Amino acid sequence: MRSDWGDLPASEREFITDRYGPIREIRPADSGNHADIASTVIGEKGTVFVKAARKLPDKDGPEVKSLRWEARVNPFVREFAPRLLWSTEIDEWFVLVFAHVPGRHPDYSPGSPDLDLVAQAVKLLQKTAPPAVVDRPVTTRWDGIGGDVSPMAGAALLHTDINAKNVLITPEDGVYIVDWAFVSHGAPWVEMGQMIPWLLSAGHTPASAEEWLCQFPAWQEADPASIDQYARLHAAVWTRRHEMVSAEWIGPYLADVRRWARYRGVVE
Ligand SMILES: Nc1ncnc2c1ncn2[C@@H]1O[C@H](COP(=O)(O)OP(=O)(O)O)[C@@H](O)[C@H]1O
Ligand SMILES: [Mg+2]
Repeated sequence: MRSDWGDLPASEREFITDRYGPIREIRPADSGNHADIASTVIGEKGTVFVKAARKLPDKDGPEVKSLRWEARVNPFVREFAPRLLWSTEIDEWFVLVFAHVPGRHPDYSPGSPDLDLVAQAVKLLQKTAPPAVVDRPVTTRWDGIGGDVSPMAGAALLHTDINAKNVLITPEDGVYIVDWAFVSHGAPWVEMGQMIPWLLSAGHTPASAEEWLCQFPAWQEADPASIDQYARLHAAVWTRRHEMVSAEWIGPYLADVRRWARYRGVVE
């Protein structure tokens, strides 16, 4: 549930207006649902993007945990992520203020020229050394569902959620990847696997999605049996989540995950 700007402590709002001038407009983000506040804040002297979450009294909730991951990894992924300008913990709030990136979301549909721009960014990301702060293995996503998760283990830096809403393309064709909440380390090809449902939802077939992914060395070099295991476990995890969590996007997402897993012959 997103909160209003007015819910933020007055001192934090003043801090922002001191630097960026009286606020002209606050534009809540059109997508995403992790942070309580995710808004473009347009001041008379500058524009920033603010993400903020309420802390629980005794421990960090999932929203705050997500923001902590974003803050932790930001200095190491400056080529891709909007710069984190500052972070504050004040009263019951955790607040991140990012440089604002003017841009649009890419079109992932077959033949879209945006796909080449996104591919360039993903290739660079695959070459980025994983910082020690990213000590969270991606394999935990599929723990507990029954099945060997070791094929997905590895040391590569993974964003894991490169859906079109988490990518911004500037008017100069610069590519920014936002929302590093799920950053992890694992086998490098897992990054590509995670993109498949989003390619399908944009109109790809499983075959055309995989064809696109073949440009990435990590995907090409991956053991097909490992990818099969990922497809099987990913479908199982999301089938279970769909039964337990009601969120509008999960049904269509699961349908695409299953469509791909069927194509690989690992689910009925
Ligand atoms: N630095 C930024 N500048 C401009 N827009 C941004 C910036 N960061 C995120 N956005 C926009 O806000 C939306 C939500 O931000 P995101 O970081 O993905 O939050 P959530 O965790 O809620 O998904 C993104 O889809 C993107 O459109
Ligand atoms: Mg997002």
